[in-house]
Amino acid sequence: MAKMWAGRTDGATDKLADDFNSSIRFDCKMYRQDITGSMAHAAMLGAQGIITAAEAETLIDGLQGILDDLDSGALAFDMECEDIHMFVEQVLTTRLGDVGKKLHTARSRNDQVALDLRMYLRDEIADITALIRDLLEALVEQAEAYKDAIMPGYTHLQRAQPVTFGHHLMAYAMMLLRDLDRLADCRRRMNQSPIGCCALAGTTYATDRRFEAARLGFDDICRNSLDGVSDRDFCAELMAALSILMMHLSRFSEEIILWSSWEFKFVELSDSFTTGSSIMPQKKNPDMAELVRGKTGRVYGDLLALLTTLKGLPLAYNKDMQEDKESVFDACETVRMCLGVFVGMIRTMTPNTANMKRAAQTGFINATDLADYMVKKGLPFRSAYKISGQIVAACIREGKVLEELSLEEYKSYSDLFEEDVFTAIDLANCVATRISEGGTSVASVEAQITYVKEMLA
Ligand code: ARG
Repeated sequence: MAKMWAGRTDGATDKLADDFNSSIRFDCKMYRQDITGSMAHAAMLGAQGIITAAEAETLIDGLQGILDDLDSGALAFDMECEDIHMFVEQVLTTRLGDVGKKLHTARSRNDQVALDLRMYLRDEIADITALIRDLLEALVEQAEAYKDAIMPGYTHLQRAQPVTFGHHLMAYAMMLLRDLDRLADCRRRMNQSPIGCCALAGTTYATDRRFEAARLGFDDICRNSLDGVSDRDFCAELMAALSILMMHLSRFSEEIILWSSWEFKFVELSDSFTTGSSIMPQKKNPDMAELVRGKTGRVYGDLLALLTTLKGLPLAYNKDMQEDKESVFDACETVRMCLGVFVGMIRTMTPNTANMKRAAQTGFINATDLADYMVKKGLPFRSAYKISGQIVAACIREGKVLEELSLEEYKSYSDLFEEDVFTAIDLANCVATRISEGGTSVASVEAQITYVKEMLA
């Protein structure tokens, strides 16, 4: 096919070179942004008198027709085209004749592709944000229902202190709030318009970049034309934010996988979000959580691929930058899929509070409370810590838990012990008295839930 850029060369490239060079198979995703951007560009050219008002109108109508036809399926992408930008311009020129050839005045594919990508990713951020909000709502719902379900809290994966399931879930809610914030922040810097930077140096035409930026919903324009066409920070930032989000989902997945095991059985995943084994009839596998954990590596890889592509590039545009799209598209799509199943998996997950309680009853997770009891009666913490540790060691030797010792046995360690020690080490009491802000008491978890709801409102 004759190249639109045939001029200096005859544009007759080798078939292998064409296939290698072409990006339409993945940048066709951005057709809506490409066409909308071109409509704003035509309007600006018309408003500035660079083309006539009638020509601008013809171009805009023609572009609208292409958009409608692509939406309806009446028009299919021509995979022989080099990229989506060339495809749209080619169809436009076929349909409109010479006036179609005026669209690319005061523009380059370099600022055009940067514009399209920013617009496309803005929409992705909106979709991903909505999914994170869904997940937060699912978490808040489960946390509310299980705000008093006692389970062991862990450090080093060793039972540490009692917490509630609601409290544990709200920890993930806080991570997701930060993810939302990071995405909003990333969008803020992304939302600057590169159109009008042209190939690299700006243009001699009397363009109005702010007209286009405002029409396309940008808050500002890229202030340096070389930077405008070279900058892919917005892709890297987005993928960094998505990598952190995936890291959160992956940690959560790991816990869900553990909790679903026979060793824990803290939760039962719904049949609709698990799979069976082709050989072992008894199996119910947490594949969704495992895949989310697995796909985390893939999103990290997408980020690293782009950073590596960019690291040696001189200003301004280089063709290497065409490699930005597959990574960032893959990262967004992967994250959307992961969030989608995650929401369903969390909503339909049934906690097993009896098993959590049972696990909480062994492992001496009230040993800190035993020490605190003595501290409140006047003993320095370090001394109380030591006595509590000696009592735990004795219990382990005798196969007992702290609740099973008699008051006499307690008194043999310290005469500070009285009948109220049993209240102090009661697990429900241990949770109820952790009233510090952010702590595990029901009131504190309720405050966390309220906070998240306020942030979502
Ligand atoms: N397909 C190209 C890309 O994705 C569009 C920009 C091409 N610019 C150029 N000067 N060849 O980066």
